[in-house]
Amino acid sequence: MRGIHDWSGQTVLDIGCGTGFHLPRFAADAARVIGVEPHPPLLRQARQRVSELAGPIEVLRGTAQALPLPPSSVDVVHARWAYFFGPGCESGLTELARVLRRGGTAFVIDNDATRSTFGSWFRRALPAYDPAAVERFWARQGWHHVPLDIRWEHPDRESFESVVRIEFAPEVAEAALAEHPGNSVDYAVNLLWRTY
Ligand SMILES: C[S@@+](CC[C@H](N)C(=O)[O-])C[C@H]1O[C@@H](n2cnc3c(N)ncnc32)[C@H](O)[C@@H]1O
Repeated sequence: MRGIHDWSGQTVLDIGCGTGFHLPRFAADAARVIGVEPHPPLLRQARQRVSELAGPIEVLRGTAQALPLPPSSVDVVHARWAYFFGPGCESGLTELARVLRRGGTAFVIDNDATRSTFGSWFRRALPAYDPAAVERFWARQGWHHVPLDIRWEHPDRESFESVVRIEFAPEVAEAALAEHPGNSVDYAVNLLWRTY
């Protein structure tokens, strides 16, 4: 992401920031960081996380479809596994165009269901999911696409199993765990981005 748009000294918006895990990472170099999160328990956790940090970081309640920010107020948007999943996120795209300054960049990170062991579990969990339709959607909107290979690495099998069971319904989780030994899994994701 930094190679595409360096956010040093700029304003970064993390949409669907969850517990705010990524906010301190952006704050290390950005001039201002804003997290937006609709779910009250996660909003509280994100606020708690940033309360311990110095610097201009805030977490606002809101959604991708109605961002609580003025027009042309942000340089970089980041949305990781949050709302921007392809067809159906058009209202959020309209909001990106409103809040991003000219020359700003939006980044979306989402699963690549066409590759990797995790991708095969994802397809099993969502048989109606059509990766080709999602790819066509982003291409039509003028977004670039960078395939990335990441891994889940856990300290032990128990922790790995617990996260697989959070991520998938019992049937899919138990089948995946039965066929997959160890504490880690290869996970293909897509980095999607567009400059405004
Ligand atoms: C899988 S979590 C990812 C959290 C965070 N981005 C991360 O990578 O750790 C999905 C997040 O999207 C949020 N979310 C759900 N609907 C949303 C919407 N319409 N607009 C913005 N965020 C949304 C959820 O509340 C949740 O925090």
